[in-house]
Amino acid sequence: MRIYKVGGAVRDRLLGKPVTDIDWVVVGTTTEEMLAKGFRPVGADFPVFLHPKSGEEYALARTERKSGRGYGGFTFHASPEVTLEEDLIRRDLTINAMAEDDQQNLTDPYHGQRDLEARVLRHVSPAFAEDPLRVLRVARFAARYAELGFNVAPETLELMRQLSESGELEALTAERSWKEISRALMEDQPQVFLEVLRACGALRVLMPEVDALFGVPQPEAHHPEIDTGVHTLSVLEQAARHEQPLTVRWACLLHDLGKGLTPEEEWPRHIAHEFNGLKLIKAVNERFKAPRDCQELALLVGEYHTHGHRALELKPSTLLELLQSFDVYRRPQRFEEFIAACEMDARGRKGLEQRSYPQADYLRGAATAARSVAVQPLLEKGFKGPELGEAIKRERLKALKVYKEST
Ligand code: CTP
Repeated sequence: MRIYKVGGAVRDRLLGKPVTDIDWVVVGTTTEEMLAKGFRPVGADFPVFLHPKSGEEYALARTERKSGRGYGGFTFHASPEVTLEEDLIRRDLTINAMAEDDQQNLTDPYHGQRDLEARVLRHVSPAFAEDPLRVLRVARFAARYAELGFNVAPETLELMRQLSESGELEALTAERSWKEISRALMEDQPQVFLEVLRACGALRVLMPEVDALFGVPQPEAHHPEIDTGVHTLSVLEQAARHEQPLTVRWACLLHDLGKGLTPEEEWPRHIAHEFNGLKLIKAVNERFKAPRDCQELALLVGEYHTHGHRALELKPSTLLELLQSFDVYRRPQRFEEFIAACEMDARGRKGLEQRSYPQADYLRGAATAARSVAVQPLLEKGFKGPELGEAIKRERLKALKVYKEST
């Protein structure tokens, strides 16, 4: 039995990056022997085990053959005869297909080290096509290592294009796709993830609503970058630069989907794009089964982001409606995230990245004013049920009028 460290742990050590997860591959053994040594099997589908003490993953060297469509369609062949090289050749990228023994001797039959130095994300072999999720993985690695100067090899991009056109991406489960998308959005340069997906035609398959934004113009006065797709990626870039959480990044990506529906004769204006986009945001949310907080924020930001930008001009009654829609009394954090998304939208415009956004503090002040209305005195006056609700609203409106006049 020979044991090697593989995949991300080897790659990241060579890149001088911190190693978090370690994956191991075991050559020359059987499931029975692993079980006898106290390893615990992971699920029924893969010849993968957890180490009895460290809990790290140990996989038997295996070859894979595709037997059908989608991720379920695999047959595995794991036996003591499968060599390390045979195991490595079925992996996604050359930089992920290196192995290391306990003396740090590198096994690198597919030149991962050379590609690491050349900053190239290159597939190992045609077996890449066995798992369509790899299209998303490569785009995610491109986002993660963009700052180091990595690019996708042309032949790998071509293979990704073929996979995208083949219909295989549609067979991915929502859960697997979301895992990649959410991880990619949390990278430092999430816009690169989308650029790579777009370049290989995968964006058109996965999120046609986002893909449709490219080529759609906006008024130059507010959007010097003009193109809605370019703007969307800049908003996402700003969100990463300001270290926003996943909820905000997801909302940034989807906030302008309605602009893709505007009839060409109305360009570059986009009347009611906020409302028009809601059904598209809902569709994307549901397609990937995004977590509830991401779904909610994306819909709210889609509907109200222009309210955010016009905050200082809003009538007190409109401000109140906005605060009520967000339920700022019980969900203050969600309103903060809305403000952050609006600010990223305002900064994600060519040449305006450093602009100030006074709307943010103004909205926070409005929320504080509305929240300062005390319920107790109204209860003491005898209000109850729906009347109490109306009385609270009246008092909040008064507070917002005072607030607006004082600022
Ligand atoms: N792998 C693959 N194809 C996949 C998933 C994984 O070939 N669809 C292989 C790669 O060799 C990868 C290894 O399995 O390096 C471990 O996968 P995983 O833990 O998902 O990724 P890491 O490469 O460790 O990357 P990360 O840092 O993103 O976890």
